[in-house]
Amino acid sequence: MKGLKILTFMVATMLVIGLAAMGAQVKIDGSKHDFEGLTWNQNGGICGPCHTPHNALSSVAPLWSHTNTAASFTMYTNVTMNAAQPTEPNPVSLMCLSCHDGTIALDAFVGETAGATATMPVGSQVGAGANLGTEHPISILYDTNLVTADGALKAPPANLLNGGYVECSSCHDAHGGEENTKLLRMANSNSELCLTCHDK
Ligand code: HEC
Ligand code: HEC
Ligand code: HEC
Ligand code: HEC
Repeated sequence: MKGLKILTFMVATMLVIGLAAMGAQVKIDGSKHDFEGLTWNQNGGICGPCHTPHNALSSVAPLWSHTNTAASFTMYTNVTMNAAQPTEPNPVSLMCLSCHDGTIALDAFVGETAGATATMPVGSQVGAGANLGTEHPISILYDTNLVTADGALKAPPANLLNGGYVECSSCHDAHGGEENTKLLRMANSNSELCLTCHDK
């Protein structure tokens, strides 16, 4: 009887661990970034719209399959900003803008003729008109010097930064996001995300 209880416990535990591992693997599934089966997705599958195993866009890791935007962006500025002003977004954020600025068709893949049938819905456009001046600053270096200069930032959260920089991917996870709500890396109903960096 005791043996059976231990066995049941072990099976249940393995099931929970197994499900947790599966959950981590498939979180893009069913998210707004799950383009499987959509007509514009001639690259097929769930990864193809963004990645390709061969002949990827050489300027952008990781194995990027989507044609990049050629827009020359206006970046966020304000007199109270302490971070050094970037002249353009870093490649990791350009990847997002290659679909989200609305200038490139969703089905414009590297090495293929764009069907140019699908475009980003207006409500999901970010950086439209090449204007990032009304968006949270990106491609800014967030180091201890900035923390001192700003006076109201927490220590740089390494897990949210990309090579030390704040990028689109600091707040979002292209692969689904913890919450699957707006693909955010963490819940933000009580501004938890904002307060991970800002000490307000
Ligand atoms: C909507 C676009 C998009 C889709 C779809 C997508 N990815 Fe990504 N992927 C990205 C972006 C952007 C990055 C780089 C930034 C980052 O890591 O978040 C990335 C990075 C990666 C990386 C390297 C960094 C890391 O997170 O380990 C791997 C591996 C990867 N993706 C695998 C996949 C696989 C496998 C699929 C399909 C199941 C997939 N991706 C679907 C956009 C996408
Ligand atoms: C500082 C954090 C942060 C950064 C950086 C950031 N976002 Fe967001 N983004 C958010 C939050 C929070 C929401 C959810 C807003 C809401 O629910 O009202 C959001 C919403 C969105 C949405 C959904 C449409 C909308 O406007 O609500 C899109 C698309 C998006 N972001 C794309 C991007 C892209 C592309 C970048 C980089 C150019 C980016 N985000 C950079 C925090 C961020
Ligand atoms: C291959 C094109 C493509 C790329 C690359 C891409 N997205 Fe998206 N994204 C989409 C589409 C299409 C939607 C759904 C738009 C809609 O239904 O209104 C979307 C939706 C979103 C949303 C809204 C999610 C929600 O729940 O409403 C966010 C946030 C977002 N993307 C952020 C990003 C970020 C950040 C990156 C880069 C790390 C990125 N996207 C890269 C195509 C793309
Ligand atoms: C990954 C870290 C990070 C996250 C998350 C984050 N921020 Fe920021 N934010 C920064 C940094 C760094 C700056 C630049 C500060 C500076 O230059 O003095 C900044 C700048 C700003 C500014 C402009 C300040 C100015 O002087 O004009 C505002 C407003 C702001 N953030 C609000 C938010 C809000 C609201 C959220 C949550 C949706 C958020 N931030 C999430 C890091 C972050």
